[in-house]
Amino acid sequence: MRHLMSPLDFSVEELDELLNLAQDIEAHPDKYAHACAGKKLATLFYEPSTRTRLSHEAAMLNLGGSIMGFSSADSSSAAKGESVSDTIRTISCYADICAMRHPKEGAPMVACQHSSIPVINAGDGGHQHPTQTLTDLLTILNVKGRLNNMTIGLCGDLKFGRTVHSLIHALVRYEGIKFILISPEELRLPDYMRHDVLDKLNIPYKEVVRLEDAIPDLDILYMTRVQKERFFNEEDYVRMKDFYILDKKKMKLAPEDMYVLHPLPRVNEIAVEVDDDPRAAYFRQMQYGVYVRMALILTLLDIHVD
Ligand code: NCD
Repeated sequence: MRHLMSPLDFSVEELDELLNLAQDIEAHPDKYAHACAGKKLATLFYEPSTRTRLSHEAAMLNLGGSIMGFSSADSSSAAKGESVSDTIRTISCYADICAMRHPKEGAPMVACQHSSIPVINAGDGGHQHPTQTLTDLLTILNVKGRLNNMTIGLCGDLKFGRTVHSLIHALVRYEGIKFILISPEELRLPDYMRHDVLDKLNIPYKEVVRLEDAIPDLDILYMTRVQKERFFNEEDYVRMKDFYILDKKKMKLAPEDMYVLHPLPRVNEIAVEVDDDPRAAYFRQMQYGVYVRMALILTLLDIHVD
C-alpha cells in the first residue's frame, strides 16, 4: 500500500506519469467519470482549508466516488482527546483512502503507520504539503512546457511555508534548477532546508530581501502568504505581513514569460490589479489541483483506466 507524505515518495519517472495522467484527465474527463465508483474518500482536516479539502473532494466526486469527513478538529473526537492513531484505525473501517491536514508536523506520518488505507498528507504544520507540490509542478509544466532549466523565485514566508519546502524537495531533482530565495531575514528558509537539501545537492541559489532585485531574472515567481497561525506573537506577524506586495509596477520589471504562482489563500501579497495580467497563473493553478488530485487518487488506489 502506498501513501503520500512527501513529494519524494514518488520517483521522477512516477511523477512524470502522474502529471501525464493529470493532463489526460483534463483532456478527457469523461473517460474517468466512473473510475472510482464504489470508493470512498475521507477528508480529516484538523486545520482550516478551502482548496485542499474541497479539491480532494471534487477529485473523488469527478471520479464517481463518494466523500465523507470532518473539516475541523473541534467537530471530531480529537476534541475529546482521541489520538491520531485511534482516529485513523476508525477511518480505515469506513473509507478506501484519506487525506489528512494537521497542525503538528509528522501527524499524517503517524497516521499512515496505523492505517490500512492510503493516507495523503494534505499539509502538516510548517513541514510539507506534497499535493500542493503536485499542483505546482503541473502548473509549471503547463505554463512553461518543462520542469527543468529554470530560475524559480520563492517569495515571502520561506520559514513556515510548507508549500515552499515541498516544492524545493521536488524541483531539486530536475536538471538546471536555480532558486532565488526572497524573504525578510526573519522568514528565511530554515537551515535544514538550505544545508541538508540545497547545499548538499549543490543546487545554485541566492538569498535576497528585495523582490525588485530578483524579479528580472525569474522564469517562475512563487508568492506565499505570511503564515500568521505559525507565529508566536501578533506583533511579529503585523510587522511582516505586508513586507511584499506584488503589483503592476513590479510586474513591469518581470520578463514577458515569467509566470506568477501562489498556493493561495492570498492576503495582501499580490495586488488584485495583477489578476488580469496574462502571467498571473494562480487561478489556473487551483484548477490544475483538481486534475492532479484525481490522478493521485487513481495512482494510490492502483486503478487504471484504458
Ligand atoms: C497553503 C497551505 O495550507 O499550506 N494553502 C493551500 O493548501 N493551498 C498555503 C497557505 O495556507 O498559505
